[in-house]
Amino acid sequence: MKHLIPEFERLKTRLPPDHDATLMVPCLRRIQQDRGYIDNSDIDGLAAYLGVPRIQVEEVLSFYGMLRREPIGRWHLQVCHNVSCSMRGAERLLDHLKDRLGVQAGETTADGRFTLSTVECLGSCGTAPVVMVNEAYHENLSAADLDALLERLD
Ligand code: FES
Repeated sequence: MKHLIPEFERLKTRLPPDHDATLMVPCLRRIQQDRGYIDNSDIDGLAAYLGVPRIQVEEVLSFYGMLRREPIGRWHLQVCHNVSCSMRGAERLLDHLKDRLGVQAGETTADGRFTLSTVECLGSCGTAPVVMVNEAYHENLSAADLDALLERLD
């Protein structure tokens, strides 16, 4: 993560003095964007950079579900299965994806293309059911929409 420190330093200029620990989440997100996940060396490096104990970085990592400790597939399919999405067919979409991809939630396809996950409310209940693919929301989805979407993902 050392090559990201100049970016972190630029972020730091936006904060009041002595608020370096506030950088934790943005730095972790940037590390994950760069590597795909956050490994042990990143935790050590970030703790040293921010001047905080390693456990403080681990606490943040364990709190935020969007931060990953393991590599995942090129496309991360996150199916919301909270109340609104469930009432509008999220479980059927999830079953459809499991069948089509041959994986369970939490698993990655053998070719490394897709990781399937379930998530709680994505904050888009009015357009349920919602599936997040990497950083993009796909809303009001049917199984046919999902099939068409998967065809567009290389
Ligand atoms: S319940 Fe799925 S977006 Fe809120």
